[in-house]
Amino acid sequence: MAILVTGGTGYIGSHTCVELLNSGYEVVVIDNLVNSKMEVVDIIKSITKKDFKFYQGDLLDIDIIEKIFNENHIDAVIHFAGLKAVGESVSIPLRYYHNNITGTLNLCNVMNKHNCKKLVFSSSATVYGVPKSVPIKEDFPLSTTNPYGSTKLMIEDILRDLYVSDNEWSIALLRYFNPIGAHSSGLIGDNPNGIPNNLMPYITQVAIGKLESLGVFGDDYDTHDGTGVRDYIHVVDLSKGHLKAVEKVIKEKGVNAYNLGTGTGYSVLDIVKAFEKSTGVKVNYKIMPRRAGDIAECYADPTKAKEELGWEAVLDIEQMCKDSWDFAKKNFK
Ligand code: WQD
Repeated sequence: MAILVTGGTGYIGSHTCVELLNSGYEVVVIDNLVNSKMEVVDIIKSITKKDFKFYQGDLLDIDIIEKIFNENHIDAVIHFAGLKAVGESVSIPLRYYHNNITGTLNLCNVMNKHNCKKLVFSSSATVYGVPKSVPIKEDFPLSTTNPYGSTKLMIEDILRDLYVSDNEWSIALLRYFNPIGAHSSGLIGDNPNGIPNNLMPYITQVAIGKLESLGVFGDDYDTHDGTGVRDYIHVVDLSKGHLKAVEKVIKEKGVNAYNLGTGTGYSVLDIVKAFEKSTGVKVNYKIMPRRAGDIAECYADPTKAKEELGWEAVLDIEQMCKDSWDFAKKNFK
């Protein structure tokens, strides 16, 4: 049972490869290393003591996808590969649409040609736009506020249309909330190039002394303490959700969306306090103006994933903070 993982050396992709290999799946990875590092391949092998095939390549090159399917018997695909920085997508939308949409179309066309019609797609809570209320359910209205989110919603629509055209497809659309944390080994984690956009890698770089202080983007939102509320989920829980989704698409046909979140919202200041409490390290911060495009509150109702995938997040915010800090100490020198 070989699973092709696109973007398998990235943050969530690498953690998912670890869970797949530990569960006995044969894994094949393609990654263009635009936002990850080659050494992650050997790190995954050392964590799991398992081997797997790695192809350095880009989904915009349809020949490399053909090569993978000609050289391997792929039973299902988990598709992570894509550009994912919200702010960057606003400044270079054409690159985002081309990379994310064309890459996915190439992948699906080759899958179709090889009669591989089981797909788990890395979507995002961003497809909910500004939610009408919280917690968010999968049948809430979908809209987006930036090109990155629009690529995710467009790909969801493409995959829904693909299923309508051919009911042999089995597709799971996984809408992630805010993944943080790292594998217990501290060897893989969220290691963005440059100044982090996301909250937790920024906090850990302040805690380790690489950055001076955290800017809290706004304290005048309609939330319990005025700062933005999000549904933070441990990346290992998130990865295990992908294995449940693989089981689902192998068993049943259809196209289904699932929220992968904890169902609990934490504010920015809640996270700062939780980080300080669980690591004993102080985080300097200062209140800054709101960040353009941010929303006040976003957290999941994860009931559908529990009922239909038999999955729920189990790791708490203290573990997320501890594992994030452990990874930072070992990698952010
Ligand atoms: C979280 C909270 C910020 C940084 C984004 C994408 C989403 C997904 C996850 C891909 C917000 C606040 C942050 C900082 C801060 N990515 N913050 N200071 O924006 O919820 O989601 O990443 O799928 O699609 O939109 O995550 O970590 O950037 O922000 O105060 O330096 O932390 O305002 O309230 P976000 P984030």
